[in-house]
Amino acid sequence: MCGIVGYIGYRKAQEVLLQGLHRLEYRGYDSAGIAVVKEDGTLNIYKAKGKVSNLETIMADKEVEGSIGIGHTRWATHGEPNDKNAHPHSSQSQSLAMVHNGTIENYHILKKALIKHGYTFSTETDTEVLVQLIEYIKATNKCNLFDAVREALLQVVGAYAIAVIEKGNPDTIIVARKSSPLVIGIGENETFIASDASPIVGFTDKVVYLKENEMAVISRNRPLQISSIADNRPSKLDIQRLRVSVEQLEKGGYDTFMLKEIFEQPETLKDCIRGRIVEEGKRVILSGVIENRERFIHANRIVIVACGTSWHAALIGKRVIQEMCQLPVEVEYASEFRYGNPFITDQDIVIAISQSGETADTLAAIQLAKNKGAFVYGICNVVGASIPRNTDSGTYIHVGPEIGVASTKAFTGQVTVLTLLALCMGQIRQTVQPEKVEEIAQALLKMPDTIRETLKLNDDIRRLAKTFTYAHNFLYLGRGYNYPTALEGALKLKEISYIHAEGYPAAEMKHGPIALIDAEMPSVIIAPSDSLYDKIVGNVQQIKSRGGSVVAIVNRGNTAMAQLADYCLKIPEVPECLTPIVIAIPLQLLAYYIAIYKGRDVDRPRNLAKSVTVE
Ligand code: M6R
Repeated sequence: MCGIVGYIGYRKAQEVLLQGLHRLEYRGYDSAGIAVVKEDGTLNIYKAKGKVSNLETIMADKEVEGSIGIGHTRWATHGEPNDKNAHPHSSQSQSLAMVHNGTIENYHILKKALIKHGYTFSTETDTEVLVQLIEYIKATNKCNLFDAVREALLQVVGAYAIAVIEKGNPDTIIVARKSSPLVIGIGENETFIASDASPIVGFTDKVVYLKENEMAVISRNRPLQISSIADNRPSKLDIQRLRVSVEQLEKGGYDTFMLKEIFEQPETLKDCIRGRIVEEGKRVILSGVIENRERFIHANRIVIVACGTSWHAALIGKRVIQEMCQLPVEVEYASEFRYGNPFITDQDIVIAISQSGETADTLAAIQLAKNKGAFVYGICNVVGASIPRNTDSGTYIHVGPEIGVASTKAFTGQVTVLTLLALCMGQIRQTVQPEKVEEIAQALLKMPDTIRETLKLNDDIRRLAKTFTYAHNFLYLGRGYNYPTALEGALKLKEISYIHAEGYPAAEMKHGPIALIDAEMPSVIIAPSDSLYDKIVGNVQQIKSRGGSVVAIVNRGNTAMAQLADYCLKIPEVPECLTPIVIAIPLQLLAYYIAIYKGRDVDRPRNLAKSVTVE
């Protein structure tokens, strides 16, 4: 939700900022802007409604001098997306410029007080209130920018990552964070700031993740100084190495990031499994589980919290953990858990799943679970993000940067890690037969090839998708392990094509949704040859006898379904608990091509953002 970038050094700031904003655009694309201080101290701000390319268009004929600046790409919270509400925001005297990711909850109160002091406001944003407050404090206390920012932040209730620069000062950026991420990249005679490491990649691999309630002075001439907002006590610099390459952040010949990420899945799953299945497929090791062996042996219950696609992966995780570990597992939306007064004890393990590792609701759920004494285990993709830093232990899915807003390779990575977790835990709890572990582990080792085979459906699905651009509604049905897969298929379609789609447990169809079936309402039926296959055939018959069209996803050996369904997509056979990983592929491709035929921007669907750092 909103991306922040900043630069101070010897390069042309404008270029570094615009490139950085492109890389952060997945976080929001309602508007974009940059502010640059020239060597003579002049402060210039440029902003435009819409995507970063719009900002580039308005800047095309402008040569912006200056090697210090800040930039922002916005996902609107306060105030509609327009030029005026775009960041950077400036203070009344135009002496300060600020970018902000987060929400200032008490901005109404602060605004009223500032109005009494003669301040006027030209936008509806909470950010403008904060930058005006900083200016007011700086003027009344006659202090420097750092002290003014710090004093202002002490008055603020809410979440923020901010960067502030000032007219007449081409040497300093002040940054701060509370509940919104901020990374500082340390190069040779240059420093970068960003909401995540992507804008920094290619410039330096040395980064410092600003911790909760910390602020920093980024200065041209002095080493980086970090301190706590509360008492200004200096913090120790914890410099980490970035392990992301520029190639990983580019489209690599594909039309979109989403298609690239769908096609990357054979490799990403290989990375996800690497080193975790040992002894020729007989043993599964996840260090986060092994190191906390006693916790996992004596756990009474597991509660999984997540949002969106990660929540769908959690539902699959519930089944596989219950099956392998003989342990009750509950799954909650993080947003419901945090306000639901959940019953959690120190005998519980709470698993938090998040691709970005920054989802505000999931972070709040983690905090609540910790306060109640639970052991919290994170399953995350982005290395060094807030969730892995705030959990007791965990596992990365290691699928590489996911840029497309619709989650694809992260979903298959999450289900893979949850399966590994279930097997690893089942072994140490002695609740799973060694033969079972071996069967699933062997199939996981072959999964990259299985996915490669499944991706061969691409051309068939592209043709099929064209026939469905007329649809206004879709039904996705699955059972058992694939009820959550149906939910995920429906979410993929709605978020990128804007077609309404509902996922349902197939047997529940007769309790209501069947009323919707007619010639205008296609259904996607997930029907691998598993323990529930025969039951699903009955659902297909019910839909066909009411005039609905059916796309069935079945195993390769299945010849019978072709007599019933309008279209069959055939996938390789895998053990039942792994079917969601394979079935996700045709569902992702179907949603993708329908959206493309409808002319949608699949990487940046309307109203969405990749990482949801607000409530
Ligand atoms: O980064 P997270 O996994 O915590 O994100 C959770 C959801 O916001 C995310 O999965 C969202 O639903 C995706 N757009 C789905 O494709």
